[in-house]
Amino acid sequence: MSNRIEIAPGVVHYPGWFERAAQEALVASLREVAKAAPLFTPRMPRTGQPFSVKMTNCGALGWVSDINGYRYQPTHPDTGAAWPPMPLALLDAWQSLAAYPHPPEACLVNFYDGPAKMGLHQDRDEQDFDAPVLSVSLGDTGVFRVGATTRGGPTRSVKLQSGDALSFGGPARLAFHGIDRIIPGTSTLLPQGGRINLTLRRVTRP
Ligand code: SIN
Ligand code: MN
Repeated sequence: MSNRIEIAPGVVHYPGWFERAAQEALVASLREVAKAAPLFTPRMPRTGQPFSVKMTNCGALGWVSDINGYRYQPTHPDTGAAWPPMPLALLDAWQSLAAYPHPPEACLVNFYDGPAKMGLHQDRDEQDFDAPVLSVSLGDTGVFRVGATTRGGPTRSVKLQSGDALSFGGPARLAFHGIDRIIPGTSTLLPQGGRINLTLRRVTRP
């Protein structure tokens, strides 16, 4: 069991939701995911500027970003293959934590090496905002920042450690959020260090 800490209305942190053995099993599943759907470098719409994180996806739909924009699509942008299925442990976590009666359709896998970070943004490419976004952190600690649903509002930060889950939904579904930095050397889960973040999302209206 894990504590449930509501850090802001609709933003709930579950420290240590996945114990160490479950984290290791998840990493093993994600290595299989990355074999079928290699990590790629997303690019900003219009400018083509590369993100500092590398990405892949599992589930029926995957989130991609390139010069033409942000979108969900059923296939990998480089290989054209369907995304591999979502590991069952993630579907279980969604069932336990999402308080939403339909399964997630997309799991975005973000890989942060030492200097990678992610600027404040909203997750708003989904048709269904009734479902929360559920995030799972693995590896080195990430400094997560979350704020209001308007840009420039107050923000707070929370350290997400390996095994932590965090959901944002309801009044926080469109909250701005991002990763300020990764704290190196804070986990032994990934032999080369770095951080993996998984975000599970419902995309279409059931
Ligand atoms: C994201 O917003 O896509 C990632 C958040 C995180 O890495 O914790
Ligand atoms: Mn996001």
